[in-house]
Amino acid sequence: MSASTSLADLAHAEWVRQALAEFAAADTPAQLENAKARFLGKAGVVTEAMKSLAALTPDERKARGAAINAAKQQIEAALAARRQALAESELERQLAAEALDLTLPGRRRGQGTIHPISRAAERIEAIFASMGFDVAEGPEVETDWYSFTALNNPENHPARSMQDTFYVDLKDAEGRWLNLRPHTSPMQIRYARQHVEAHRDLIARGGRMPDIRVIAPGRTYRVDSDATHSPMFHQVEGLWVGQDVSFKDLKVVYLEFIQAFFETRELSLRFRPSYFPFTEPSAEIDIRFEAGPLAGRWLEVSGAGQVHPQVIRNYGLDPEQYIGFAFGSGIDRLAMLRYGVNDLRAFFEGDLRFLAQFR
Ligand code: DAH
Repeated sequence: MSASTSLADLAHAEWVRQALAEFAAADTPAQLENAKARFLGKAGVVTEAMKSLAALTPDERKARGAAINAAKQQIEAALAARRQALAESELERQLAAEALDLTLPGRRRGQGTIHPISRAAERIEAIFASMGFDVAEGPEVETDWYSFTALNNPENHPARSMQDTFYVDLKDAEGRWLNLRPHTSPMQIRYARQHVEAHRDLIARGGRMPDIRVIAPGRTYRVDSDATHSPMFHQVEGLWVGQDVSFKDLKVVYLEFIQAFFETRELSLRFRPSYFPFTEPSAEIDIRFEAGPLAGRWLEVSGAGQVHPQVIRNYGLDPEQYIGFAFGSGIDRLAMLRYGVNDLRAFFEGDLRFLAQFR
């Protein structure tokens, strides 16, 4: 082996070393292709060396050619290996970037819930329906006649005053002033008149009208606002009218209702004399829990009474033949007692931290 051949071999080994170093330093496919061009490109060292073979003698050309080829193969192999490595690390990078972390908690969809007042109203409806009561709804914007006059509420009664009632600055088609109903009692009149109308022929023939048994839950309005009063609140009206109904029936039904509502039999009820223009006699209904956090105190939950003869007449019935019992209870008050809420306003402020507790 001649001295020049061995030098050329060294040079070739040096190319391979350098190519390996440059390929290893290339971090991207573009850098790698640039490095490749310096060795294997048109003007790369390997290509140039190949071209220079033409000037050599056949022997030199053979020896030198073989050495260059060997170097070229090693460089090509190194290039292929590095391409493969870069492609693999690119895949790794993509996989890492797009990885799904299955241990992350999911994004929750905000779950709604039935408002505690609606829930209380639904319970009340279900309990009375199970005792054969119809459930009726009526307008929240009422006329003076339904809100007051038909309920035997005298013109000068304080409930009619501006301090209590929200008046609407409008009259209905018949010229009657409108108000936001201050109680659900107008529904007694609306429902009873419809019921009487539906049985008019029967009544005219002296037949016996089926009893009126209805509750009417809904929103009511008064100019009033503190921890136990809201300008918008909820009542449920109850009415039972027939030919031989008595106070005892009212008491039995109400006790049954209140025990079902609070899911306890350890609860008593008392009627305390009171006054309402549309009942005579009138009473307040108080309840007392015998156990639990509220035990021992009488709590007022409802007005009640025997329907006044004038109101029976306004139903379209003869008070000599028909007798009625009615009550009007605060739904919000019942819900407060049932859920242990002591500020009524919490129900209507829409604070989700409060409302979510009823889920
Ligand atoms: N309407 C009365 C109020 O808002 C409550 C009431 C009392 C309703 C006696 C009645 C009743 O039906 O008989 O305070």
